Formats: sequence, C-alpha cells, structure tokens
Amino acid sequence: MGHRLRLDITRMLSDVVGIEHGITLDDIEAAWPKAEAILQGLEARHGAGDMPLFDLPDSTDVVDKILDFAEKAKGKFRNVVVLGIGGSSSAGTALQSALKPQLWNQLPDEKRDGLRLFVPDNSDPELLHAVMEVCPPEETLYCVITKSGRTAETMASFFAVLTPLKEALKDQYTSHLVFITDPSKGNLRQIARSEGIRSFNIPAGVGGRFSVFTPVGLLPAALVGIDISQVLEGALLQREKCFNRDLQANPAAVYALLQYLAHTEREKHIHVMMPYANALKPVADWFKQLWAESLGKKFNMKHEAVFCGPTPLAALGATDQHSQVQLYVEGPHDKTFTFIFPGEYRKEVKIGRHYHDIETTEYLADKTLGRLLVAEAEATQHALTAAHRPNMAIKLDEVSPSTIGQLMFMLEVSALVAGGLYEVNPLDQPGVEAGKVATYALMGRSGYEDILAEIEKERSRNPVIIE
Ligand code: PA5
Repeated sequence: MGHRLRLDITRMLSDVVGIEHGITLDDIEAAWPKAEAILQGLEARHGAGDMPLFDLPDSTDVVDKILDFAEKAKGKFRNVVVLGIGGSSSAGTALQSALKPQLWNQLPDEKRDGLRLFVPDNSDPELLHAVMEVCPPEETLYCVITKSGRTAETMASFFAVLTPLKEALKDQYTSHLVFITDPSKGNLRQIARSEGIRSFNIPAGVGGRFSVFTPVGLLPAALVGIDISQVLEGALLQREKCFNRDLQANPAAVYALLQYLAHTEREKHIHVMMPYANALKPVADWFKQLWAESLGKKFNMKHEAVFCGPTPLAALGATDQHSQVQLYVEGPHDKTFTFIFPGEYRKEVKIGRHYHDIETTEYLADKTLGRLLVAEAEATQHALTAAHRPNMAIKLDEVSPSTIGQLMFMLEVSALVAGGLYEVNPLDQPGVEAGKVATYALMGRSGYEDILAEIEKERSRNPVIIE
C-alpha cells in the first residue's frame, strides 16, 4: 500500500466536544442521504462527460507533452515567472512549496533539479519590478496563465514584461513565452495563434480553482522538477473513493458534510485550515480560495437569494499559535479547525543538549524540532477540544507528490459536495466577474461606459473622511 491520507473526525463529534458544539451520529445519518444524492448526481454528470474535472487524473497524454516541454526548458532557462492570478497562480505555488525544498529559489543552481519559480500574482508594480530585476529575460521563461484570456492583472503583467523581453531578445522573444489558456476562446489564445507561441490548454469546463491537475498546476510543477505523474496518481486514488456511498470510505464527502453540518446546525461559519508544516501553508491558501469562491454565493440553484458561504481561513502551526490560537480557544464558538499533519518531516533538526543547568528548558534536550512541532500540533488539538471547539485532522503518511495529489483532489471534491449541500453552484464565480467588469470600466475599456457611470455616481456622494 502506498502513502495515504486519512481524515480523523473524532474531535468533530458531540461525544468528544459536547452536544452544543459537536456533530452527533444522528446528524450525520440524517444528512447522509442528501450527500449520497449529490454523489449520485456528480457520478452521473461524470458519466455523461459533463464533469471534465474527474477525467484529469487520467490525462497521461497531457503529462507527456508537459514533461517533454519541461525537460527542454530546464536545459534552456534558469527561471520561470508565472503571470496569473487566483486559481491560475495558486496551484503551482502550492505544489512547488509542498514538494520542493524550502527556500528553493535561494538554493545554489547545482542543488536544484528544476527552474527557480517566481509567481508575482498581483499588479503591485514593486513586486513585478523586483521579479524582473532578479530574472533577466535571457534566462527566463514567462508562463502566462489565464483561462478567460482577458483578466486585467494577468494581461497587464504580460504586456509589461513584453517590452523588456523584446528589447533583450529581439525576434527570439516568443521562445521565452508559454501560454496556458482556454483551448479556443480568449485574447491569449488569439495571440498564441497569431504569433505561434507554445501553449497548453485548460480544458473547457474546468474553472481556475479546480485546475491544479491541468497544465495550470502541472506545468509549473514539472518545470521545478516535481514528479507530476505521481501527483496525478494521488488524485486518481481519491477519485476512486470520491463516489463511494459508504461514508466510512469517502473522506471528501465526509469532510464536506461535517463542515456543512457544523456551519448550518452549530453556527460554525468560519473554517480554519492549519497545517503544521511551512511547506503546506500555500496549500491552505489554495484551499481558502477553493472554499470561498465555490461556496460564497448570493443565489442558490433555484435563484433565491441566500447569501451563503462559510468563511475559510488559513493559519500555520506553530507560528499562529502565538497569534491566532488565543482567539480560537477562548473567542466566539464560531469555528471549525482542520489540522494537517504532514507525517514525518523530510528534514530533521536536532536540538542537542545545552545549558542543562537551566531546569525550565531541560525538557528540550536531545529532542528534535520535528518532535516539538508534532507536540505543538497535538497540544493545540487538545486545547481546542477541551474548550469544546470541533476540529478534525487530515493526516498524511508523508508529504509526497502522491499524498499532495490526494489531498488537493479530495478538497476539490469536498467543495463540489459542499456546493450540493448548500444548494449553490460551486463552479461559478459571478462576484469575481463583477469586480473584473468594474475594473475594465475604471480602466476606460469601451463598452463598459454604463458601469463607469454607476461608479462615478457612487464617487460623487459626499465622502465621509476621518483624519
Ligand atoms: O477560480 C477562479 O475561477 C478564479 O480565481 C480565476 O482563476 C481567476 O479569477 C483568474 O481568472 P483567469 O484564469 O480567467 O485569468
């Protein structure tokens, strides 16, 4: 048996954290038929070819193309700069952080088996300027990722790097570009066609935050030297479980159901994900987007206004024990917690034996930092449980391409099931679109004059300013 992921739900249950805050087995039994119906619906849609997300773990032809491209790129470039935002940038960052050594970009070249990865996922001019300073065009591949092919932040950053790129590389500049976008629609696809720029497809029907198993996540991952076949194998392991109607064998559905019940039956509307490994913090950030954009909706599927959605937060153990945990243990009873245990740390640090005449630090002698961090995780679990705060744990045997593939696929399916439980569409993001449209208007794009007029009207109100 390979390395696995397990979901420990013990501390979500009422006999552990109390009836007022915990979920009872009766709650689960009563709600399970609804989850089963959702699973049946998803399976039927998958069978009808309507859920390409479930086909991604088998996409070996795409993997071959990515690996071929990455192999050549590794011989030619030192850096890859990903220009994308939201779901188009967070997946690559999460995979790289989880699966390559810490401080990857700072390692000497001979200690890296892949490119340095920079993801300036904001229109902050100081950020892009800094990236351009450390990544000269001659040694850099620019990977532009946008599903719609028109997101303002991404297109602006792409255009901004074009000038220095063209100046430095003359007519060779297109060989330093690779696009990941919709197979047929959008500006980026059009540019790829007209300039003959190498491109990869985001399959139609796979949205940004669900695109980690497409080239969006896999190409940056392959470029930094991650075994992407193993990532997909992990996703496949979870896909095999995700339609299972036996709740004991379906972590994705159980995770969704417990979060949903805790929110709707026990008023836990904040869902904190807290890995005990710095490498996994970007996975928690990725989850935050997945949960927020998939479940935060004004309308339900019947088009009734419901203003639905739990608020996801990402925290890092043990760092946030000294920042957030006071609130978590003693503040309002409005949260659930998901610990992520990474299994054995891939590097260990011995504390040694020093100053043994100081009694209050003697307990650290001859221990390791890994042991301390696991103790901190278990101690926080204990403190939360004793304070009647429902919490669960995702336990990885180890952090590997397979277990990270399992984890991210499981959470994607959880978001789909949770969407069904809340009766909202987890695959759209009309609120994000509204902001995008307002940006076009403010930037003077033609066709958006009405929106600009609305914004101007709002601006013309008497401002209330405190100085
Ligand atoms: O999950 C989503 O759909 C969003 O977060 C998008 O990924 C984000 O808005 C970027 O969109 P695009 O890939 O079209 O540039």
